[in-house]
Amino acid sequence: MSKSVFVTRPIPEAGLSVLREHGYNVDVNASDAIPSRDETISLLQKKPYDGVITLLTDSIGVDVFTAAPSVKIYANYASGFDNIDLIEAKKRGIIVTNAPAPRSAEAVAEHTIALMLALAGRIVEADQSVRRGEYHGWSPMNFIGTDILGKTFGLVGAGRIGARVVHYARALGMNIIYTDITKNEQLEKETGAVYYQTIDALLPKADVVSLHVPLLPTTRHLINGEHLRRMKPTAFLINTARGPVVEEAALEHALKNNIIAAAALDVFEFEPRVSLGLRSLNNVILTPHIASASIETRDEMAVITAQNIIDFFEGRRPHYVVN
Ligand code: GLV
Repeated sequence: MSKSVFVTRPIPEAGLSVLREHGYNVDVNASDAIPSRDETISLLQKKPYDGVITLLTDSIGVDVFTAAPSVKIYANYASGFDNIDLIEAKKRGIIVTNAPAPRSAEAVAEHTIALMLALAGRIVEADQSVRRGEYHGWSPMNFIGTDILGKTFGLVGAGRIGARVVHYARALGMNIIYTDITKNEQLEKETGAVYYQTIDALLPKADVVSLHVPLLPTTRHLINGEHLRRMKPTAFLINTARGPVVEEAALEHALKNNIIAAAALDVFEFEPRVSLGLRSLNNVILTPHIASASIETRDEMAVITAQNIIDFFEGRRPHYVVN
């Protein structure tokens, strides 16, 4: 009998068609609103589904597992997987996969660099000012920004995405310093990146600090008030990783009090809520978790997600099992 897969919100057809071509019944939730846990449970109880494609906005834990006992695989359509209780899934013999599409590292790296250049050139502030009708002719002192050339890029997390970001930063003529739990010798060889064993040592040296770590108990509030005070008052902070890696109230305080110069955030501590305080500041750029939102990446993620499910039900270990 053909297997049934539920998709909690619409994702690109590129992946859904792969599942259908392999004989799967695919039900996609018609609504693109983020379902609550109770809504997820009632959606999954409509049929005895064999697999579920989840998004990083779905909170999947013991109550969902209990309510949908037929589900053998949760295939997360995301690189991250902090939205799923992996330990509980493992206890129950449920497989969890993710979709770290090779292209997603490029997309996130490009977005990170776009944010850095936008901060340096004050592009968003300037754009908003023009739209408000405030441009009355060229002025030598209007929206003075900073150069990137020769500045120091401080990478936090030298994995797949961080390494791509550093290649772009290097191409822009930046010096690279980085910290991670282990050294990345290849990155050092390719970009001249210099390793710092601790984030405390890296922060005072960097002109731009960019975060590329997963959300784990050890990385929650990795950047707090004390860390922000260690940074240069001229420095930028960029977060395209996960919101809770930065203590947002401390960041807001630092931006208001010129403890650091500016920040760019693609992710938020209490996502999708973005504090009014942050929204009222000129020295922060806010994008709605779109760093990997290129069509090429989204399609590739969908195909990988579908392939994880197909591999599992055809008796192969999927490439991207995370538990
Ligand atoms: C996006 O944040 C992802 O994890 O894919």
